[in-house]
Amino acid sequence: MKIIKTPETLSRYLKKLKSRGNSIGFIPTMGALHEGHLSLIRAARQENKITVVSIFVNPAQFSPKEDLKKYPRPLNKDLTFCRKEKVDYVFLPRAKDMYPEGFSTYTCVEGLSERLCGRARPGHFRGVATIVLKFFNIIRPDTAYFGQKDAQQAIIIRRMVKDLNVPVKIKVMPTVRGEGGLALSSRNIYMSALEMQDSLVLFKALNLAKVLINGGLRNASRIISRMKELINRKQHAKIDFVAIVDARDLKPLKTISGDYLIALAVRIGKTRLIDNFQGRLLI
Ligand code: PAF
Repeated sequence: MKIIKTPETLSRYLKKLKSRGNSIGFIPTMGALHEGHLSLIRAARQENKITVVSIFVNPAQFSPKEDLKKYPRPLNKDLTFCRKEKVDYVFLPRAKDMYPEGFSTYTCVEGLSERLCGRARPGHFRGVATIVLKFFNIIRPDTAYFGQKDAQQAIIIRRMVKDLNVPVKIKVMPTVRGEGGLALSSRNIYMSALEMQDSLVLFKALNLAKVLINGGLRNASRIISRMKELINRKQHAKIDFVAIVDARDLKPLKTISGDYLIALAVRIGKTRLIDNFQGRLLI
């Protein structure tokens, strides 16, 4: 496994490998790797000759009030995981290499970026789209892998790639869950044992929605009310949003039909958790 720190060196290596016909699978991460990331790495390894993982806590996607400084950075553990999973290249750039002095070009996926998580995190998806496009330009992967847990991020990246004719295939892999259904996230370590208990309510609320939909309910606001009721019973939970939207444009649905996304963000103590369920209803 090679650890590479500068964009130029990585581009040089990968260009050579590509010219010899090797396919490249890419997994962008901010480190603090867990089974969710490992599932992306395994998918990339199966489908490509070369696997590249980036580990970069991207300052452009954190607002000044967010946890950039506090964000976990267990680098040695991450590298051990990558070695074990037989990753070929780990890209570990420094912030000043990705955003050198004078940097002033950003990618904005308008409309999609302001909805759902974009409301509480203005500028977040601009930071994500910008860094991901930069990675795509440096790495030129054939396929890039994202997790369904960050459904809005995946939808935004797909749109960016389509709108800007970026020659990369996007694959979205299922959310990996821990005991009780909690979606794995690098931020879960912020929670206390009691908060962990309460955090299971996100998955429970999604399951409640599924049961209601399977029982024939189509009225989005009634489903949302039931989900909120359930979440509000938990002492440590504070709802940021619960939404049922069209999975293509993230606009709210009144009546569930077609490709829909049920997404929620809940603060458990100081930790903001997200989860979602994406489904299709053919009436
Ligand atoms: O999902 C993440 O960890 C980040 O948003 C990503 C895609 C690595 C961009 O920094």
